[in-house]
Amino acid sequence: MPSRRPRVLLGLTGSVACVKAEELVRALQSWADVRCCATPAALHFLPPGATALAGAQLFLDAHEWAAWRGRGDPVLHISLRRWADLLLIAPLSANSLAKLAGGQADGLLLCVARAWDWRGGRPVLVAPAMNTEMWEHPLTAQARRRRRARARAHAHIAPRGAGLARRRHRAAGQQAVRAPPPAVQPLTRHSLMCGDVGLGAMAEVATMSSAAREALAASARAGSAAAEEEAAGADVELNAAWAQGAAPRTD
Ligand SMILES: Cc1cc2nc3c(=O)[nH]c(=O)nc-3n(C[C@H](O)[C@H](O)[C@H](O)COP(=O)(O)O)c2cc1C
Repeated sequence: MPSRRPRVLLGLTGSVACVKAEELVRALQSWADVRCCATPAALHFLPPGATALAGAQLFLDAHEWAAWRGRGDPVLHISLRRWADLLLIAPLSANSLAKLAGGQADGLLLCVARAWDWRGGRPVLVAPAMNTEMWEHPLTAQARRRRRARARAHAHIAPRGAGLARRRHRAAGQQAVRAPPPAVQPLTRHSLMCGDVGLGAMAEVATMSSAAREALAASARAGSAAAEEEAAGADVELNAAWAQGAAPRTD
């Protein structure tokens, strides 16, 4: 169990539910260190020019390219992955859900998700938020099934030596993490911001915060929180990348 506070990376995608981002960050900050990562569409719902949300550094696609100039430079999506004990994507748009299910990685947040250490058991939670028709569309159900199946496949295709690691876990009385990453379900019937009434609204902030906390507690029991040394290195890289910010490149 690391001696530091848990670390949550909050991914934000282009749903109107991003208006709850600061409230969610504050709820998470009551028990974890938080950093945020937003897609370009999510920015439309965040305060203009925001570089942080409730004090939590906000990383954008532009930071990824500003931080990397050549071989040997840190790669931001890897540094974020190494830093975080848990990835919470809230809200998760229909578009990003489909991309996750299809394995696309065309931006910082999806690269973090794609490069995620699935076998190590670090949890990923997603909280979909979308219009009722979008949520009930057969393509959404298909994307959710595909995302779960993909996660399960990742969790089960073990690297060489992983069987030994699992046996060691069992010998130590710990449970190997094999379950697919869960999703925080959208609220049951709800009045949506678009005026429709039905399924599709993002889960309550308190529900997401406790789901994240519980998932981290389970993963810590299985000994899968980010290694302290690795996480400390990532911290330094992230502070440098954030300071460089989205400053336009001059080369
Ligand atoms: C005002 C407005 C509200 C939107 N709200 C949602 C939403 O709640 N859920 C959703 O899936 N898409 C929503 N969209 C559509 C997404 O923003 C759009 O699909 C976008 O491409 C998502 O990009 P991303 O997944 O890369 O963040 C909304 C669009 C607009 C203009």
